[in-house]
Amino acid sequence: MKHIFEKGSNPDKPTFLVLHGTGGTETDLLPIARHIDREASILSVRGNVSENGMPRFFRRLSEGVFDMADLKERTAELYDFIDTAAKDYGFDRNNVIAIGYSNGANIAGNLLFSYQNSLKAAILHHPMVPNREADIPNLTDVPIFITAGTNDPICPAEESEELKELLEGAGAHVQLHWEHYGHQLTMPEVEAAKDWYDHL
Ligand code: MLT
Repeated sequence: MKHIFEKGSNPDKPTFLVLHGTGGTETDLLPIARHIDREASILSVRGNVSENGMPRFFRRLSEGVFDMADLKERTAELYDFIDTAAKDYGFDRNNVIAIGYSNGANIAGNLLFSYQNSLKAAILHHPMVPNREADIPNLTDVPIFITAGTNDPICPAEESEELKELLEGAGAHVQLHWEHYGHQLTMPEVEAAKDWYDHL
């Protein structure tokens, strides 16, 4: 997968798996990842699907309606890519924290819904429930920070609560942070994510 890897200055720090929103690229969220921890490594990936030229991590049939077969396949592809990248770049596969926004948060959520030990922790900005049929693996003590907008037209507030409950049902420690905006990624929620990360 097309990606950027930046080796961090402190090998004890995690590797951030950085996943952009629809129409974004692997450079979009680099400033946010660096802001959260400038000593961490960064593996920032570009989605392999193109929707009218806009990169995405998996296909959708319409706004908010996912192509579930493609989601499954692309999630497996991303999972394998992280394994390979850990070997190639020599980072600790067990110390990977996702930072995803929108479509990128959705595939990060689906990694958690599909594979045990896929991520050590996750920061999900404006995620949806990726798969209501999932048999979610054991996520005991996996820390997850979700940010959501009370006026998000793409992800209704109830869906953010539903995602929190599903993850908690699998044992994860979930914190849900609200902003009174829509689907956009705001600076206050990035600061809230940093504060959460600093206290991990
Ligand atoms: C998705 O398709 O993943 C969600 O609708 C969010 C988006 O990318 O617009």
